[in-house]
Amino acid sequence: MNELDALVQSARSGFAQAITPAELENAKAQYLGKAGSITELMKGLAALSVPEKKSRGAAINLAKQAIEAALNERRRALAQAELQAQLKAEALDLSLPGRQRGSGGLHPVSLTLERIEAIFGSMGFELAEGPEIESDWFNFTALNTPADHPARSMHDTFYVEGGSEQAPYLLRTHTSPMQLRYALAHVKRHRAAIDAGAGMPEIRVIAPGRTYRVDSDATHSPMFHQCEGLWIGENVSFKDLKYVFTDFCRLFFESDDLALRFRPSFFPFTEPSAEVDIQFQSGPLAGRWLEVAGSGQVHPNVVRNMGLDPERYIGFAFGMGPDRLTMLRYGVNDLRLFFDGDIRFLAQFN
Ligand code: PHE
Repeated sequence: MNELDALVQSARSGFAQAITPAELENAKAQYLGKAGSITELMKGLAALSVPEKKSRGAAINLAKQAIEAALNERRRALAQAELQAQLKAEALDLSLPGRQRGSGGLHPVSLTLERIEAIFGSMGFELAEGPEIESDWFNFTALNTPADHPARSMHDTFYVEGGSEQAPYLLRTHTSPMQLRYALAHVKRHRAAIDAGAGMPEIRVIAPGRTYRVDSDATHSPMFHQCEGLWIGENVSFKDLKYVFTDFCRLFFESDDLALRFRPSFFPFTEPSAEVDIQFQSGPLAGRWLEVAGSGQVHPNVVRNMGLDPERYIGFAFGMGPDRLTMLRYGVNDLRLFFDGDIRFLAQFN
């Protein structure tokens, strides 16, 4: 075997020993690099005669091509091996059990709100929502509750930055500000017809949402829900309030023999005012009167603040507690359970 064949041999076995691409590139340098054997042989040609150069040069070139071919072959083999190893490492194990995606559900209070909306919707009530950060004016003053009114002390709440001392912002203590917000928008839409004496379509709306007071025990949470109701027209009376609310409670609790009682009460923005109590005839709560809402005929001053003539427009409002309704419907005795976020409790309602 001549010296060139031996060189090709040794290159082949050198490449074969390389097991990573980096090792292969190192082995390549030994033969084809700047100081590699082939390069050195080429340099040696300079000392030869022209015919010798020709034949020796051709032989060295053949050896060089053979080494390059061996190098490329080994490169491909290493790349292939690497790919195989990668595929093997990343293989999907289809025998593993899949991950469960537990199905979600609505919060019990949300279920109640949906129920309230559906029942009042079926009675022709619109649905409205309003801001939780409210002005002192909408929350109190416009509702016939001026700054020095003692009823304000029952609505201690959280004041927030942004307003002035005379007109602070606060977290609304009830949804009653929505009576005004909704009525004002409605009256604005129909202003021309109202002024022309043609009147306006009745206002019939419910406004559910979050409300806030400084209160915290088993039946009070600093954040709680209310749902306001308002019906204003030219001939809406207390008897309408009684049948609407009675129908609502019977539909909500799916009980035809539920008793209702309108107990005289006081709110600055209604006159007369009544607390609404319900009584189940059967079940664990049977016989007890349970308060579920405040209500009353909208006070003339509030009707006036809506931009309407209280001699012509009259109606009723109510504010109920969806949290309370949820507790009664499901027999839950601690309100805080609804807001602790314990999935074991919440999941039971779906
Ligand atoms: N806003 C009253 C409350 O939070 C409830 C109410 C609403 C009473 C509408 C009368 C009319 O206590």
